Amino acid sequence: MASRRAPVKSARRQRPGVFAGGASGTLTGMEFLAQKQIVLGVSGGIAAYKSAELVRLLKGAAARVRVVMTPAAREFVGARTFQALSGEPVWCEWGDDRTAMEHIELARWADRVLVAPATADTLARLAQGRADDLLAAVCLASERPLAVAPAMNQAMWRNPATVDNVGLLRRRGVEVWGPAEGEQACGEVGPGRMLEPAELVRRLSDSFSRGALAGVRVLVSAGPTREPVDPVRYLSNRSSGKMGYAVAAAAREAGAAVTLVSGPVALEPPPGVRVLRVETAAAMLEAVQAQLAEGCDIYIGAAAVADYRPAAPAADKIKKKAEAMQLALEPVTDILATVARSEPRPFCVGFAAETGDLMAWAQRKRMSKGVELIAANPVDGGRGFDHDDNELLLVWEGGSKRLERTSKTRLARQLVDEIAVRYADATTSQGNHAEHSA
Ligand code: CTP
Repeated sequence: MASRRAPVKSARRQRPGVFAGGASGTLTGMEFLAQKQIVLGVSGGIAAYKSAELVRLLKGAAARVRVVMTPAAREFVGARTFQALSGEPVWCEWGDDRTAMEHIELARWADRVLVAPATADTLARLAQGRADDLLAAVCLASERPLAVAPAMNQAMWRNPATVDNVGLLRRRGVEVWGPAEGEQACGEVGPGRMLEPAELVRRLSDSFSRGALAGVRVLVSAGPTREPVDPVRYLSNRSSGKMGYAVAAAAREAGAAVTLVSGPVALEPPPGVRVLRVETAAAMLEAVQAQLAEGCDIYIGAAAVADYRPAAPAADKIKKKAEAMQLALEPVTDILATVARSEPRPFCVGFAAETGDLMAWAQRKRMSKGVELIAANPVDGGRGFDHDDNELLLVWEGGSKRLERTSKTRLARQLVDEIAVRYADATTSQGNHAEHSA
């Protein structure tokens, strides 16, 4: 399928050596890790103490772990700690009584290589392709997916040298997991904290999933937005978020790494899905754009985003008066259309709540937003909102399909199946295009 806009990025799983990792918030299982062989590189930062917990969790998920420490890492944690937790030897430096081929053997042994923590120095060394310590050499020799979990002072993370190194690693297909924001060991606050061990283990687990969307990063928006009128009032709509949450859960079941940007709803986060909560359309746009910057293959805009918001929300509660009042509204940025215009852009799916001629409105909306697929549902007489079932008309370039009325859970699975097919088509034609023009 040809896209009207710039073609979608090729699927990450189609590039060799690329990590099919994902984000998760409440994942229940780490089922994909059993019997998997992980080389864990530990470099010299204070976060190295967290790597002990990482090894413990990986072992708990029945993975095998071999730890490779840089010399600096030993200043923070002793090799014996990792040895005891992993039940395997720990590699620190070249030589000793092992063969000179140990970097090759470790690289061949690994199903995945994860460097956590990855210090600024380690990232620089990996970006340069150095091989003068064992960990750098293993990373260079490995043909398996490589992920790094940066941990450093926030100024070091923001330094253009690190930004360039991380950009280079990303372009080569290295997965960069984190860092998180927050208080740092040095007393400063900002981005640079290593992701929590449980989060890293979930991402590793996700990377072995084999569903139709395995290794694909999906971003879903769901729920209504609230646009403040004054400190106690807001404009909103009747969206319950159920459809968006069901889509996020179905994408996760299909093996995707799913992030859900959610407006205010009374729903439990789906298992294994990272949920970012927002209130206003502006906050939703900001969260979506931040996720796009981290990398996203498919965007599914299921949120009922406000079209207008109060132009000047009052700082104090508006007092009742006898006469009628006027509320000036200003248009809200269209998040879906903005994502579809971004570069690089993900494969874009929009929803359309319509009354009247569903097909005609859906086609028109697909064109005007510049997206690959529109899932339209009828909302005449309140149908669709806050119900447990729904029906959809899917519309894409040159085709359409009706999904009969059923529970939102079942419908979401059918929708995700269709998205997976169309996404695979789009990435295949993108791949062919690249081959022809090469
Ligand atoms: N959408 C968006 N940002 C907005 C408004 C809508 O991202 N500010 C997205 C929704 O998430 C949905 C799609 O656009 O995927 C269509 O939303 P809908 O409310 O049906 O249409 P509108 O674009 O608002 O147009 P209209 O109200 O005129 O039908």
